Amino acid sequence: MSGKRIHLSVLSSTNSYTIELLSQNGIESWTVVSCDHQSAGKGQRGKRWEVEPEANLTFSVAIEARIGLEQQYIVSSAAVLAVVNTLEAYGIDARFKWPNDILVEGEKIAGILIENQVADGMIRWSVIGIGLNVNQTHFPPYDWPATSMKRIRRGLDLDKEEVLSLLLQSLKQAWFALAKGKTSANIRRMDELLFGFEDEVQFEVGGKRVVGMILGLAHDGGLRLALSEGVRTFYNGELKLLRSAS
Ligand code: BTN
Repeated sequence: MSGKRIHLSVLSSTNSYTIELLSQNGIESWTVVSCDHQSAGKGQRGKRWEVEPEANLTFSVAIEARIGLEQQYIVSSAAVLAVVNTLEAYGIDARFKWPNDILVEGEKIAGILIENQVADGMIRWSVIGIGLNVNQTHFPPYDWPATSMKRIRRGLDLDKEEVLSLLLQSLKQAWFALAKGKTSANIRRMDELLFGFEDEVQFEVGGKRVVGMILGLAHDGGLRLALSEGVRTFYNGELKLLRSAS
């Protein structure tokens, strides 16, 4: 259950490298792959994840998940809770922008990219890739502004290894609780953490701008929205929250 730790100075993407290892000889569950610099870091929706070399955490964790496809939310919930709980341990109050972003004071501090290996209608392996901004203090003007732990704490550099070790501990805790079916308390906590909860926010759905109120999470991790035509639940990839929520 402990898994190996692989650290390299440069990789194209820790997610891609982990997937490559999985397809070659297989790896132990809970193997962690990290690097100082990703030359082609991957973000959600085909975007790139580009951060200052060495300043931040960029890593992937491979978990032999063996859960149904409909339980994908367990993986993302565990990852979100791990990041939020770790930040909390440093006195940083974070919010979760559905489905996979972590915000502090409305700015993005971490992104999560989950890539699953699916066989026979099951998620066999989940590769959870996390980019957590730790010590970077200047960011280019992204379409959603970014921040880091160091910026929020207005202090000295943080020890990335210490942050990673707390995060992995937290990920295991959340994963095993969720995999054992302790989902309702966790979903409730995720509701409380939801950025824009019970606010009117703007979304992009199928290329169109839509206004709705975030009602919370469905039991399967979908996002429940009150729209003019009624309540609808959306799933990952179906909508994008636009920058108007408080
Ligand atoms: C996003 O918010 O768009 C998701 C960003 C995920 C970035 C991490 S960094 C480690 C892992 N390897 C990658 O190539 N991407 C993820």
